[in-house]
Amino acid sequence: MTSGDLDSLKRAAALKAITFVCDGMVIGLGTGSTAKHMVIALGDKVRNGVRLAGVPTSQETAALARQSGIPLIDSQDRWEIDLAIDGADQVDPNFNLIKGGGGALLKEKIVTASAKQFIVMVDHTKQVPVLGGSVPLPIEVIPFGWGNTSRAIQALTKSRVTVREQNGIPFKTEAGHLIVDVHIDRIDRPGELEAALSLIPGVVETGLFVGRTNVLIVGTPQGVHTLHVPRK
Ligand code: A5P
Repeated sequence: MTSGDLDSLKRAAALKAITFVCDGMVIGLGTGSTAKHMVIALGDKVRNGVRLAGVPTSQETAALARQSGIPLIDSQDRWEIDLAIDGADQVDPNFNLIKGGGGALLKEKIVTASAKQFIVMVDHTKQVPVLGGSVPLPIEVIPFGWGNTSRAIQALTKSRVTVREQNGIPFKTEAGHLIVDVHIDRIDRPGELEAALSLIPGVVETGLFVGRTNVLIVGTPQGVHTLHVPRK
């Protein structure tokens, strides 16, 4: 399957996701190549007279939303987000996610946590029996003492840890933090791992999104599948 094929599956999932959007809603706008399709399609809705406001999870998404004509809510405001829509790097059978491949995990988690509903859009290659393996787990850390923080992460996870780089220098998030990628073979208990990582001083946020998904939309070569997560 080519990257073009995968991109059409992402687009198909994004077009399905926006069918959940109703007039007057405040939408949490995710980040990444799948979210891009969703933002562009929401722009079409706005042009057709649907009233929406967006809360973007990155400067990249904010720029695209502005270009697409979606009114944005200032990040200083207190939001009432009806629906957050975002992509993911991996999804397990319990709808838990790894996110943060694009480095936007902190804002993505804040927006998702503030939303009444969270819709996740993926192509079928992101579905895995267990999180980890081919996709590292991103963890956002404070630059101060990051070496010690990453050693503590390594000791907890018993896995190789690398600091994310871009053009040969450490990647900085929009909040000025670093990303530590944990190359962990399998995450059998994501909730427990998320809680334990959050207790390490210097850890700002993890890319584990546990128990947050309400609807999972999967683009597959056989069509788009929509899975509603049972309420516990
Ligand atoms: C951004 O930091 C990520 O959480 C993305 O949502 C995730 O990496 C999915 O990206 P794609 O839609 O580009 O695959």
